[in-house]
Order: sequence, then structure tokens, then C-alpha cells
Amino acid sequence: MTVILGLEGTAWNLSAALVSEERVLSEMESTYEPKYGGIHPREAAQHHAAELKEVVSRALKGAEEKEAGFSLQDIDAIAFSQGPGMGPCLRTVATAARALALSLKIPLIGVNHCIAHIEIGRWRCGAKDPVVLYVSGANSQVLAYRAGRYRVLGETLDIGIGNALDKFARYLGLSHPGGPKIEERASRSTTYLHMPYVVKGMDLSFSGLTTAAKEAIEAHPDEQDAVCYSFQETAFAMLTEVTERAMAHCGNDELLLAGGVGANRRLQQMLRTMCEDRSGTFYVPENRFLKDNGSMIAYLGLLMLKSGVTTPLELSRVKPNYRPDEVEVTWRPEP
Ligand code: ATP
Ligand code: FE2
Repeated sequence: MTVILGLEGTAWNLSAALVSEERVLSEMESTYEPKYGGIHPREAAQHHAAELKEVVSRALKGAEEKEAGFSLQDIDAIAFSQGPGMGPCLRTVATAARALALSLKIPLIGVNHCIAHIEIGRWRCGAKDPVVLYVSGANSQVLAYRAGRYRVLGETLDIGIGNALDKFARYLGLSHPGGPKIEERASRSTTYLHMPYVVKGMDLSFSGLTTAAKEAIEAHPDEQDAVCYSFQETAFAMLTEVTERAMAHCGNDELLLAGGVGANRRLQQMLRTMCEDRSGTFYVPENRFLKDNGSMIAYLGLLMLKSGVTTPLELSRVKPNYRPDEVEVTWRPEP
């Protein structure tokens, strides 16, 4: 059995997990909660630095295989999120990962956070070769695997859908993360107010929608629920349209949803309906594997290690703008 320790800390959530070929052995996390406003990258990094040792030792102790838990000596390799993400947060976690790999004399594996979201979803759902809708705070992309890489078929031209929801929520005085609070309010209304629907070819834009939603609140301060509903309906219809077109272009009837915004029930419902209309299959993992988690980092690390890929120290610098299509996929047989 190969055991990988995965460290995730691209943004507000610090997480450590142990994963083997068969399963997730344990996972622990510690979440940075800003006192006000959004995420302050340096404060989040300080949080990660202060909590890392504790989170790793809890993950080791929590592993069910052995009654006394695991020790660092039981680990075969260390995987960490190399990017994309916030520079200070990435650097904190990468420094810890390097120190652990060096002192234990085991391989280090820098993984792409976006691809980790995809691969854990494929693993948990048993999806073979799906089109992927990856929707999180900073990212909104439609991807498909072709000839050795995950190709980005469409994406946001400005902010990610999660950040759009979080920004609007902050405007309403709601705390971070805003997505679930907007979902709650949206579920209380069915009144649609006109919002800008911006799809350009296969790409999307959410910043005009966010501004329009703020203006709608100014114009109708008593209609918060209707504005939340209209925001969601518009944004999710845009995402569904582009995703459906990607599936049609690829001739692919499998869809996998990935990323924290994927927890939204209304988004899931729209995508499921679209897939049913095409006689396709819709896959979505449990919420704990949608949001940022250490297991996905460990799992992709395991796939990479088994395919012979590790990261030498000199190539382990963090990549805040790391794109999924930069990664050569060595662990998937050609379909
Ligand atoms: P990435 O680095 O991949 O962009 P991230 O740091 O944004 O990841 P995730 O956990 O993947 O982290 O996604 C967090 C986002 O998901 C936040 O913007 C949050 O508001 C949003 N979110 C969480 N739950 C829901 C929900 N039920 N509805 C809508 N958005 C949600
Ligand atoms: Fe993420």
C-alpha cells in the first residue's frame, strides 16, 4: 500500500489528508475566517503557518488503519498544491511540504489544484471521460481531456462565479463564504428580475452581473430574495449553456461537476436536467470532495507518483497562475 500525505492551502482552507490506492485514510482541516470583508492573503497564510503542524498531526492520528494512528515514517510521498492560488498561502504550504519531504527523504509532488478537483471527482463518481464543469471561488472553466491534457474549452473572462457570489453577498452584509447564503435567499423567491446574461462564444463574464445585482438592490431594497434568485438563475443558465455546447462539440454525454460552487442545489438541478434531456449522465461527488480538500491533492499525488512523476526541489516553486492545460497528464491511458 502506498500512502500519500496531501497538503492543500491555496486559499482560506488548510487541509491535510492521507490517501492510499483504495481509500481516503483520514482528512483534517482548519479554516481561516476573516473577521470582516473577504480573504486577506497574508492573514490566511499566517493562519496556515500557525495551524499546519497541528492539522498534519491530527491527520496522522486520525488514520483508521492503525489503532495508534500513522507516524510520518509511514508516508511514501508528500503532495502539495503548487497552484493556482494566493501567493502567500501557496508559499507557506509549499515550504512545509519541502521541509517534510527533505527530512523524511521521500518524494515531493507539486500538483495542480484544478486537476486535483477533477481527478477526485472522477475517482469518487466512477466517471470515465467526462466533460468537466469546474466552478469555485477564483475559477469557472469547462474542460475535457484530449490527447494528453485537460483542455480548457470555455472559461470566465473576468471573475469566477464563486467570487461573484461572495462579492454580492458581502454587499448584502453577509459573511464569507457567501455562496450558501445566496442559495438560501434565492430558494425563497421565484420572481425573476432582468439581469445581464453574458456568454461570448464558449466564454463567460460575471462582473457585469454582479454590478447589476447590486444596482437592483439599490432600486428594490425590499427584494433581496428576488435579486438573489435572479442572480443565480442567470449565472447558472450561462454555465449550463456553455457546458451543454462543450458536450455537444465533444460528442460526450458524461458530465462531472467539480469545485465548491458545485454544492449549489439549483446549479446541480439545472445541469442534471440538461444531461437528462441529452440522455447523458450527470456526476457530482459528495460536498466534502467538491470544496477544497487535502484528499484531492493526495490522490492526484498518488496518480502522478504511480506514473513516475515527482517534483525535484528546483522545480517546486509555487505557481499562483498555474493553468490546468499546462500539465501533461501522465496517469490516464489514451481513450
Ligand atoms: P479555487 O482555488 O479552486 O478557486 P476556492 O478556494 O474558491 O477554490 P472552493 O472550496 O473550491 O475554494 O470554492 C469556494 C467557493 O464556493 C466560495 O466562493 C463559496 O461561496 C462557494 N460555495 C460554497 N457553497 C456554495 C453553494 N451552496 N452555492 C454557491 N456557492 C457556494
Ligand atoms: Fe478549489
